[in-house]
Amino acid sequence: MKIFIDSADIDEIAQAYSWGIVDGVTTNPSLLKAAVDKRKAKGETLDMEAYIAKLLEISKPNPVSLEVTKRTAKEMIAQGRTIYKRFNSIAKNVNIKIPVNPAIQVNEQCHFDGINAVKVLQSEGIPVNCTLVFTPEQALLAAKAGAAYISPFAGRIDDYIRSSAHIKFDKSDYFPEEGIEQNGVLLHDNGIVSGIDVVSQCVEIVTYYEYKSEIIAASLRNPRQVREAALAGAHIATVPFGVIAQMLRHEKTFEGMKKFTDDIVPEYEKLIG
Ligand code: E4P
Repeated sequence: MKIFIDSADIDEIAQAYSWGIVDGVTTNPSLLKAAVDKRKAKGETLDMEAYIAKLLEISKPNPVSLEVTKRTAKEMIAQGRTIYKRFNSIAKNVNIKIPVNPAIQVNEQCHFDGINAVKVLQSEGIPVNCTLVFTPEQALLAAKAGAAYISPFAGRIDDYIRSSAHIKFDKSDYFPEEGIEQNGVLLHDNGIVSGIDVVSQCVEIVTYYEYKSEIIAASLRNPRQVREAALAGAHIATVPFGVIAQMLRHEKTFEGMKKFTDDIVPEYEKLIG
């Protein structure tokens, strides 16, 4: 499984790359806002074009998702073309993030504008990461439209299932892949019992029908969820910096390291330097 870093903070991205296990980057408007706000809080001014160029250079040759901000197909296609034309020449690693459904309310007319934008951009050779996927049927339509990547949001499904059942939780709390029961009833969102369940069903659909789309398990909140995404066969997991940082930690590894360090004999260390 490939691991992307889910961040727009170039310091975090550079550090994660230095660990040697990162295969790409996903950004979104909220992550970009967090990165910009962090710099503004330090009194720094930010040249957005130079910032994005640096982000792409750091990630080279691995892919970076840059999201559109408009909601009609016409505008998203125009923005996708602009982003690609302006930035892809820097490191040849840009893909365009398009929401699977840009509607904010059910009575809007733009439900299929995202799918339409995916189809048009992909047909022009511009790779798309189809985002904000919460159901396997959304993933199916994104795959049919030819999305290079499809991003089901695991953690936000878990949040939705818990908040719909009025369960209190912290964002990083583990939510079991097999779901949770309340008063003997398995909680679900239209048959989806957890975020990893939706990831797993998306993987199953693209695999069964041999779509070229890669499933990015997104909105991951803790290392155990990354493990479950890997076991579900996700092609990629996009993981926040803080969660990647936690992935190597185990009490017994620390304890074992201490014991091995205490037991080093000088005769052996002299040989190896
Ligand atoms: C990645 O593509 C998504 O934008 C991101 O994983 C969302 O994560 P969040 O639900 O923690 O904001």
